Amino acid sequence: MDEIGALQKTIHEQQARIRVLEEEEGRLRAFLESASQGVVAIDPGGAILLVNGTTEELFGYSRQELIGAPMEILLPEALRAQHGEHRTAYFASPRSRPMGIGTELKGRKKNGVEFPVEISLSFVREPNRQLALALITDISQRKRLEQQMQQAQKLESLSVLAGGIAHDFNNLLTGIIGNASLVLEQTSPDDPLYPHLQDAVEAGKQAADLTRKLMAYAGKGRFLIRNIDVAALLRDVLGLVRASIPTTIQVLLELPAPLPPISADPAQMQQLLMSLLINAAEAIGEGRGAIRLAASPLQSEDPVAGRMSATRVPPGRYVAIEVTDTGCGMDDATRARIFDPFFTTKFTGRGLGLAAARGIVEAHHGAIQVFSRPGQGSTFKVLLPAMRTGAAEAPDAG
Ligand SMILES: Nc1ncnc2c1ncn2[C@@H]1O[C@H](COP(=O)(O)OP(=O)(O)OP(=O)(O)O)[C@@H](O)[C@H]1O
Ligand SMILES: [Mg+2]
Repeated sequence: MDEIGALQKTIHEQQARIRVLEEEEGRLRAFLESASQGVVAIDPGGAILLVNGTTEELFGYSRQELIGAPMEILLPEALRAQHGEHRTAYFASPRSRPMGIGTELKGRKKNGVEFPVEISLSFVREPNRQLALALITDISQRKRLEQQMQQAQKLESLSVLAGGIAHDFNNLLTGIIGNASLVLEQTSPDDPLYPHLQDAVEAGKQAADLTRKLMAYAGKGRFLIRNIDVAALLRDVLGLVRASIPTTIQVLLELPAPLPPISADPAQMQQLLMSLLINAAEAIGEGRGAIRLAASPLQSEDPVAGRMSATRVPPGRYVAIEVTDTGCGMDDATRARIFDPFFTTKFTGRGLGLAAARGIVEAHHGAIQVFSRPGQGSTFKVLLPAMRTGAAEAPDAG
């Protein structure tokens, strides 16, 4: 009886121990599955022994497809051949370390898409085998943010430089134009020097126009803030540019809903919209086409990111002005540079229209976005903060 009792006790103890072990295993498995990194264990031959759910998500393979497969399937094709040597070297002198310091590591999804990763390796010695554990982080998002930061910093320093030069030039030009105009006034139109003086004044004015654009780009333009009725603004601007747009291009104005006023500098708003409209007409060129100028109220619950700038505008009420054309459109490489000062793809372009447009929009706490594909036209969308009006403050009846 005693022996049986002792046996039963041992069995109970064993069962309790198994339960504890099972719980522990469950917990470890849950840790593994909840990790935000992909976890992959491989043996010295490179066969995959274990993966977690994040690995399935990152690479697009199912667990069944991965277990037992050579780990090289997770690498870009170009790296597969030489990877065996690296693996052998690692198992020969294993230690925990981050992989590929100073180099760009890439993973390859089942569908062939490659993506940047960060990998840290650790080594596990089990009684009868060794295995390496890779923790894989998808750093696509971080890379994108870094690139945006760099772009923003580049634009920032360009803008400081351009603004500084433009400011000094503007002062010098005032002197040049003023004095030349004075001499011109006192010169008879019959004088052989008269046309030369005229040319000098004209060139000076063009230079002043350039520096004004550069100053707008740098956010250093002069501001006279007024309450602006956007519908009236758009009609005025269309009246001004219609004559310089070929008649083969149809120009449509769309104002589907009443718009709240904005608070902005009217001259700068005109300059901004004229640049966008003239670009649209130039993108269409000689042939037939259409430009649509539209404005609508927009309520954003989330911060809105401008496509080309790192700044985000806060949630709130905006007026969205869109200029859409049926012109040539642009590829990604062009689109990435259109807001850079002096970037142009046109023979006679100066590449300042959009640089100034961006400066103007940002100085008004707005955002500018671009949607375009080669051969499929472009849309430039400008968001400008709506003024708070009595109506907007009224409680929502719905
Ligand atoms: N609507 C558009 N469709 C296609 N490409 C465009 C459009 N708007 C701008 N671009 C591209 O962006 C570039 C820069 O435009 P931006 O207005 O800054 O300079 P530009 O028009 O070349 O010269 P300018 O200083 O005379 O305006 C253009 O050269 C063109 O390649
Ligand atoms: Mg232009």
